[in-house]
Amino acid sequence: MTLTEEITFDPKEISQLYDSVGWKGYTCDVDKLCRGLTKSHLVLTARDESGTLLGLARTVSDDESICYVQDLLVNPKFHRQGIGRALLERLMRRYAHCRFFLLSTAHESTPEGKRNHAFYRQLGFLSYEENQMAGFGLPRIRPPRGHSDR
Ligand SMILES: CC(C)(COP(=O)(O)OP(=O)(O)OC[C@H]1O[C@@H](n2cnc3c(N)ncnc32)[C@H](O)[C@@H]1OP(=O)(O)O)[C@@H](O)C(=O)NCCC(=O)NCCS
Repeated sequence: MTLTEEITFDPKEISQLYDSVGWKGYTCDVDKLCRGLTKSHLVLTARDESGTLLGLARTVSDDESICYVQDLLVNPKFHRQGIGRALLERLMRRYAHCRFFLLSTAHESTPEGKRNHAFYRQLGFLSYEENQMAGFGLPRIRPPRGHSDR
């Protein structure tokens, strides 16, 4: 397996990977997804010897104080082979100088949450609460705002 920082993306390949984990919120607009990848601070891919895309992680960061891991995904055909760990550990080393290394994931009460919490805990992560923090976000479904409001 090879981990590589990539800056250009094949929409079909990216769509297949994100589809494999059911992330329809992204795959409903693959061009937007690829623009988001291009604008990310760093995109790290995991590929096998033949070049097949196995997984990907991307960050949003100022490269000084904060790194936010926005996506970490591995095609389910290759789960439990250490790929997620390899991607995240590479990012943890890359951003070791940042005081905040954060991410959000599904609540523990969901099937996805159960799996992900076990994974992140195995890698040494604490929940926000355990770090004397709290996470907040606007509702994901809310009235559209004009472009100029951004
Ligand atoms: C979370 C995810 C990235 C983990 O990737 P992975 O390559 O399967 O994980 P690894 O093989 O590196 O697992 C490392 C350790 O985490 C733990 N772990 C991983 N998946 C687990 C699961 N389903 N249940 C319990 N523990 C798990 C284990 O301790 C594992 O070590 P082990 O296999 O030696 O027991 C992967 O499940 C995934 O892509 N899920 C769908 C997308 C997603 O939800 N991403 C997270 C969004 S925040």
